[in-house]
Amino acid sequence: MRDRDLVRVGSVLLAALVASPAAARDDVTHELCSPDTRTCFSLTTVGEIPTYRVTRDGKPVIAPSRLGFMLRGHGKFEHATALGKASFSEADERWEQPWGENRWVRDHYREMRVPITELIGGKRRIDLIARVFDHGVGFRFAFPDQPQLRDVQIDDELTEFNIAGNAEAWWTPAGEWNRYEYPYNRTPANQVGTAHSPISFRRDDGLHIAIHEAALVDYAGFWLQRIDGQRFRTRLSPSSEPWKVRRAAPFETPWRTILIADDAPGLYAASDMILSLNEPNKLGDVSWVKPLKYIGIWWSMHLDAASWHSGPKHGATTENTLKYIDFAAKHGFGAVLVEGWNIGWDGNWIGDHGRNFDFAKAYPDFDMDRIAAHARKKGVAIMGHHETAANSGRYAAQMDAGFDYYARHGVPAVKTGYVADAGGVLHQDKDGNDIWDWHDGQYQVRHHQAVIEAAAKRRIAINAHEPVKDTGLRRTWPNMVSREGARGMEYQAWGDPPNPPEHEANLVFTRMLSGPMDFTPGIVSLTGKGGRRIPSTLAKQLANFVVIYSPVQMAADLPEHYDAQPAALDFIKRVPVDWEVTRLLGGAIGDYAVFARQRRGGADWYVGGVTDEAARDFTVDFAFLPTGKRYAATIWRDGAGGGIGGDPFAMTVETKTVTAATKWPVRMAAGGGFAIALSPGR
Ligand code: NOJ
Ligand code: CA
Repeated sequence: MRDRDLVRVGSVLLAALVASPAAARDDVTHELCSPDTRTCFSLTTVGEIPTYRVTRDGKPVIAPSRLGFMLRGHGKFEHATALGKASFSEADERWEQPWGENRWVRDHYREMRVPITELIGGKRRIDLIARVFDHGVGFRFAFPDQPQLRDVQIDDELTEFNIAGNAEAWWTPAGEWNRYEYPYNRTPANQVGTAHSPISFRRDDGLHIAIHEAALVDYAGFWLQRIDGQRFRTRLSPSSEPWKVRRAAPFETPWRTILIADDAPGLYAASDMILSLNEPNKLGDVSWVKPLKYIGIWWSMHLDAASWHSGPKHGATTENTLKYIDFAAKHGFGAVLVEGWNIGWDGNWIGDHGRNFDFAKAYPDFDMDRIAAHARKKGVAIMGHHETAANSGRYAAQMDAGFDYYARHGVPAVKTGYVADAGGVLHQDKDGNDIWDWHDGQYQVRHHQAVIEAAAKRRIAINAHEPVKDTGLRRTWPNMVSREGARGMEYQAWGDPPNPPEHEANLVFTRMLSGPMDFTPGIVSLTGKGGRRIPSTLAKQLANFVVIYSPVQMAADLPEHYDAQPAALDFIKRVPVDWEVTRLLGGAIGDYAVFARQRRGGADWYVGGVTDEAARDFTVDFAFLPTGKRYAATIWRDGAGGGIGGDPFAMTVETKTVTAATKWPVRMAAGGGFAIALSPGR
């Protein structure tokens, strides 16, 4: 039988690497290779410590790395272990995304399950389940039901990732006050500190590796702490409890994922593995989850031209909202986000930890009934907003009322927010004492799950800001449409420093491997708070609609700014948010990225390219188009004298006819980009 061939008993190589104690029983290795046989995962024990490694084409990708747990009240699970008999299976399925970057996802892997049992004491057992795909590996731990380990309290998880071969890394720091919102660091892998995932590596030989997790459910998110050299280990996000995770066996941990590709575009293409490792849709018919473009009463607050709180500058007034609805209807935007509509923004809402927010009560100058009726008449939806200031306890108590209120007013999606420093998630114990948790700890992971289920009951989609990282749960809960979880456009209003020109090209190959981001593109005024200049060209603002994927995509600028840039608005109106197929035509982490995407259910294609602070020439190869067909291409590109050092507004709009045989060179100016809309001709 084929699977049997994959099992190798007696690992000469690993035994030679580490001199094991005389009594150690390190005589079993289970190995599993991908369907194309190039990527292999093997598990053995080294000195009776569970140890895995990953190879590609026979060469190490993850050098021998230890596995284990710190278990509260039960001691460490790592030493004196032996591997049991492995069982194998494989799958090759195609599943359909209700919305997404691609309609179809292929889930093709080989799987093995190996019991890891202690040789001492109560002989506790934890199973390792590994799935090996052509472009990556996912593995998780299953805690079986056993009398000696039922109430499982995890102090930490000791999963290591020992990156083989000299590599550079792109990463953001974990455990710092600003959660996931830091500019990306690019350092040698051996100079990373403690990093969030996804973290991406490029080896000297060009191999790309990204580490993340999938299906983070009822567990703590992990950070990657560098131990020495290029060796990292999981450090679970902290908890207000003595343990970081508490679960009743049987249960399974999230998947630990390793994407492997020959280049940066390959890394992006491989990332649907993370989605496939999540369970299928649990909501059934989700035709009510509607991808859409939206505008909002939002950027004006970030410019400090309007306020969230009540008073003369209040942004969320009835009159202002009606104007936004009319603008949305005129230009075909699906929804208007309104922030600052509800009671609780007055005073210091961040310092007070959102203790005054009321999620079902509008300010008196915001007439929700009138607004909802007008929106309905105009065929526009209101996008709801629940800022919690990370007072998750208060929100949990009120969210049913909040979602009912919105459902009554026909609101299809709610942007949630958890503004607070890391460690500032607030809730109360039974006696009403304040308890503080982390944005990516087990408490908050459970909270987000409760929110998504409460929203789903009312057919409401969620777009979470200051969230926990995305781990592909949208497959299981397709109303989890988008989230923040990295620095978005708001930093171009007031960030110190703002996002650098390389930011989008960093995001594509790091944060975006995990899922959609509510980046809020399209600031065509190129101007932030107090008149500060945004380091981007106008054409790049358009390209971002194609480059940064989100099924709810905000055109973030003010209506009057769009009125002043009709050529830019044309593209923004045209570009879809839901895709049949996505192809990455080129890219390098932190340098540039060029995407081609086909409209879901349509024949038109869109291309978007962004560069960093360097001007760059790129040749678009239209081979992604069906052969023999002519397409009318409208192109928005940086104009002569453009770029962040020149006139960033300089933009040339031109049309031409292309076919699958066309190769078209385009120059992106410094900090620039380009966008193309392609519709089939006759
Ligand atoms: C931070 C969010 O990222 C931003 O979009 C929102 O406007 C503010 N919080 C207020 O909720
Ligand atoms: Ca934010």
